[in-house]
Amino acid sequence: MSQTILVTGGAGYIGTHTCLKLFEAGYEVVVLDNFSNSSPEALRRVEQISGRAVVSVEGDINDAALLERVFAEHTIDAVIHFAGLKAVGESVQQPLRYYHNNVTGTLTLCSAMKRAGVRDLVFSSSATVYGDPASLPVREGLPTSATNPYGRSKLMVEELLADVHKADATWNVALLRYFNPVGAHPSGLIGEDPRDVPNNLMPYIAQVAVGRRSHLSVFGADYPTPDGTGVRDYIHVMDLASGHLKALQWLQSKPGIKAINLGTGKGYSVLDMIKAFEKASGKRIAYQLVERRPGDVASCYADAQLAASMLGWRAELGLDAMCTDSWRWQVYNPNGYDTDNEE
Ligand code: NAD
Ligand code: UFG
Repeated sequence: MSQTILVTGGAGYIGTHTCLKLFEAGYEVVVLDNFSNSSPEALRRVEQISGRAVVSVEGDINDAALLERVFAEHTIDAVIHFAGLKAVGESVQQPLRYYHNNVTGTLTLCSAMKRAGVRDLVFSSSATVYGDPASLPVREGLPTSATNPYGRSKLMVEELLADVHKADATWNVALLRYFNPVGAHPSGLIGEDPRDVPNNLMPYIAQVAVGRRSHLSVFGADYPTPDGTGVRDYIHVMDLASGHLKALQWLQSKPGIKAINLGTGKGYSVLDMIKAFEKASGKRIAYQLVERRPGDVASCYADAQLAASMLGWRAELGLDAMCTDSWRWQVYNPNGYDTDNEE
């Protein structure tokens, strides 16, 4: 019989792409999302692509009674936990909201899992837990730190999950530390849909290319990098989604708890990304070099060996696919999922 996976935050950017991979691999999926940063339309698109009905529950991971009902009504085998708030700047302004959502929410979820006897969990962590990385490429054993409430919420959850496993070794947890997710499903039907002005590089570039923004501000050209702009490990969201599938399969071997990088191992600068996007879109990306953004690090890219050896996973899609797929999503959906959303 096929397994059923509870996907919290399954209507979001990474969640929708992962739901498709789960369907392809024969899993049943139950999505729990409060749509605080997504739209039910995203799930309709998942249905359109997959030809499968998405079982979805609208609600909050902090709603213990609702979680109890979800676990009672469905035989859940494992949980992939994407639900969380992710805007670094906002987390500095609203720390209580971020800790309540990301940390208390995870506690509420784990308590419900414990009561239901579900012990397999894939958690969305982030390369932000490496702070300013002590060395490159970034290995999982490097010291961790956080400079803002968002990053601290990820670190706290990693630590609390370690304690949960220490107290009860039947828990199996994959702490997936994502590098920089970009790209979209090749259909152009689902992709990243920022609610406000994008904070992240790729959606911002895409909005400049489509004419929604006048130019990109390149934050800092005086970093100790080959061209002076920040270097990151951009990973295609379809590869990231495959990584979740591999992690889920790995949990079956009852491995305990482990932090695992999901990145390509390659670093690209902001100027590299602009050039690659210009090539993919045929559009010129106007940009201005401005001051560094506070809190940014010069370079961050993964050592992706552990995921390869332990999960049997490697990123396969390169920069061309990342840019082409982001561009297709942007052109087909200039205002994201909300067709009436004119700013
Ligand atoms: P997203 O905002 O698109 O998806 C998150 C989803 O969770 C949204 O659909 C939102 O409505 C839902 N959600 C938020 N709080 C909820 C709550 N309390 N109850 C129920 N649903 C809730 O973000 P994403 O890019 O898909 O990221 C998914 C996860 O990966 C997040 O935990 C994020 O912190 C982490 N992550 C993302 C990145 C990135 O750059 N995208 C990098 C590293 C880690
Ligand atoms: N950048 C610009 N202009 C912009 C946006 C970004 O020049 O308008 C630059 C940044 O300075 C950085 C690079 O593009 O050098 C990538 O920036 P992003 O904001 O896209 O990504 P970050 O690496 O800063 O942050 C991302 C997630 C965080 C997460 C972090 C580590 O947004 O949530 O990766 O995982 F914490």
